Amino acid sequence: MKPPWWQDMVLYEVYVRGYFDSNADGIGDLPGLTSKLDYIRDLGVNAIWLLPIFPSPLRDDGYDVSDFRGIHPDLGTLDDFRRLLDRAHELGLRVLVDLVLNHTSDAHPWFVSARKGPGHAHHDWYVWSPAQDKYAGARVIFSDTETSNWTLEPACGLYYWHRFYSHQPDLNFDNPAVREEMLDVVRCWLDLGVDGFRVDAVSYLFEREGTESQNLPETHAFVRELRRMVDAYSPARALLAEANHPIEDLAAFFGQGDEFHMAFHFPLMTRLFLAIRLEDSRPLAELLAKSPSLPGGCQWAMFLRNHDELTLEHVTKEEREYLWREYAAETASRLNLGIRRRLWPLLSGGRRQIELLHALILSLPGCAVLYYGDEIAMGDDPRLGDRMGMRTPMQWTAGSNAGFSQAEAPRLYAPVVTGPEWHYAGRNVASQDRQPTSFLNWLRRMVRSHRADPIFRGPGLSLVPADNIHVLAFVRERDDGRILCLNNLSRFVQPVTVDLSEWKGRVPRELIGGATFPAIGSDPYLFTLGPHGFYWMRLERS
Ligand code: GLC
Ligand code: CA
Repeated sequence: MKPPWWQDMVLYEVYVRGYFDSNADGIGDLPGLTSKLDYIRDLGVNAIWLLPIFPSPLRDDGYDVSDFRGIHPDLGTLDDFRRLLDRAHELGLRVLVDLVLNHTSDAHPWFVSARKGPGHAHHDWYVWSPAQDKYAGARVIFSDTETSNWTLEPACGLYYWHRFYSHQPDLNFDNPAVREEMLDVVRCWLDLGVDGFRVDAVSYLFEREGTESQNLPETHAFVRELRRMVDAYSPARALLAEANHPIEDLAAFFGQGDEFHMAFHFPLMTRLFLAIRLEDSRPLAELLAKSPSLPGGCQWAMFLRNHDELTLEHVTKEEREYLWREYAAETASRLNLGIRRRLWPLLSGGRRQIELLHALILSLPGCAVLYYGDEIAMGDDPRLGDRMGMRTPMQWTAGSNAGFSQAEAPRLYAPVVTGPEWHYAGRNVASQDRQPTSFLNWLRRMVRSHRADPIFRGPGLSLVPADNIHVLAFVRERDDGRILCLNNLSRFVQPVTVDLSEWKGRVPRELIGGATFPAIGSDPYLFTLGPHGFYWMRLERS
C-alpha cells in the first residue's frame, strides 16, 4: 500500500493576512497567497497550513471565529479559497486549515443569542454557571490578561466558561447538538476539498469537576468520532493536533491509531532551545529515550517556531527562569509562560545554530513544520502587542512595504520590520534568492535532501552512545538503509567517538556533498564536528 501523503510532509505555516496583498488595501489575502504558491512549492515543501481565515472580529487574530463556514472579507471569498485550493493541488501542495473547535467569538450569532439567558436559542451551546467556583482544577492559560476561566454575563447574570480570552466563550461539547454542528463544519470544509486540519486547542473540549479539565476521556472519544468521519473521505485527509502537554498526555492524542495522524511535538521544541543554549545533548537524549512508540501511520510534527509565543509551560521552574534569562532578558518579550520572539531574533541571528536546529527537525522522526518568514531570516517587532510582533508582513523585495503591498505604509495591517538589525532591505525573498550562500538557498537544499530520502520517513530512531555530551548522535533506520546523524550543540569544535561496531565494514557517506569517509572498523569511530556542526551520514556497503 502506498504510504499516505503526509508521511514525507514538510509543512509551511502561512499567515494569510501577512503574506501578500493583491488589492492594495494593506492586508494580505487569498488571491495574494495564490500568486505566491510557486515560491512556496520551490521551497521544497509539499503542504501549507493556513492560520484562521474565517469571519472574526480579530480580537485573537482570527482564533475568535464568528462564522465557521465563511471567509473573512479582508481575505477574500469562498471562490478565492476554491481557486487557492485548485492552484495548490496543481502544484502538488496540500492545504490544511485551522479548525477551532473549542470556542467561538462572543460576536458569533450563537453566543449573541445564548447570552440573553436560559430559554434563548443556543444558550446551552455554551458552559454556564451561577458561580465561579466550578472546575477550579483548570488553570488559566492566558495568565497575563485573564484572572479566571469564568466571566459574568450581565445580560443573564450567569458566568460563562472560557479557557482563553474572555471574549472567546467555550462551546459546550456535552451538548450533542454542538458536537453534531462542529462535525458538520468539518464536513463542509472537507467537501470543499481541504486536505486536513490543524486542530486548535483540542485538549479542552470537555470539562469535569475534580480534574484539570483537559485531555479528558470524553475529549478523546469526540476526537475518535471526528477521525471516523475524516477517514470516510478519499483521497485521504489528515488531522494534526495542537495540544501543549507533557509527552505522555500528548501521545495519547494518537489513540490506538484512531485519533490524530500527527501532533506538534511541543516538549521537544522547548528542549531544542534548552539544549542549544546549555550546549548539552542530554535534554534531547533523555526525552527521545522516553518517547513512546507511536501507533502505525502516526508521526510527530517537529517545529521550531510558530505564530504563538515559545511556550515554557512544561519545563521545570528553574529551566523556565534560565530560558527567560537567556532568550528574553528584556521582559517585554515575555508573554504568559513564554517568549514572544521569532526564530532569528531569539538566537540573535546565529546562523550556525539556526542551521543546526533545522537539521534536527528535518532528521528526527516526524514531519517538519516551517513558519513563514523564518526561511528569509525575518525579524520581529517587539513594539506590537500580544503576538502580533511575530506576524508582520512577509518581506518579498527591498522595495516599498518590502514588496508586500502597494498600499501606503500607514494602511498596512502591521508595519514591516525596519529596526536596524532586522531591516527588510537585506532580508527578503528577492535578495536571498539571488545569493547562492543565503539561508533561503541553504534551506531549499536541505528540504530537498530530506524529502529525497525515504529513510527519513517512518519512525525508526536509535540513539547512539557518544563520549561527548555536546554531541547528539542517532541512527535513522529502515529495511532499505540507515543514516547516522551527528549534531554538535556546542559553539566550539568537538571530537566525538561513537560505537558503530554494529555496522562494521560499512562506509559513511555524507548525504549532502557525497564525501566518503573511512570504513567502519572494530574500534570506536572518531568524528570531529565544527561549531554547531552536524553530519548526515549514510552507512553504505562498500
Ligand atoms: C491556539 C492558537 C493561539 C490562540 C489560542 C486560542 O493556542 O495557536 O494563537 O490564541 O489557540 O484560540
Ligand atoms: Ca488585500
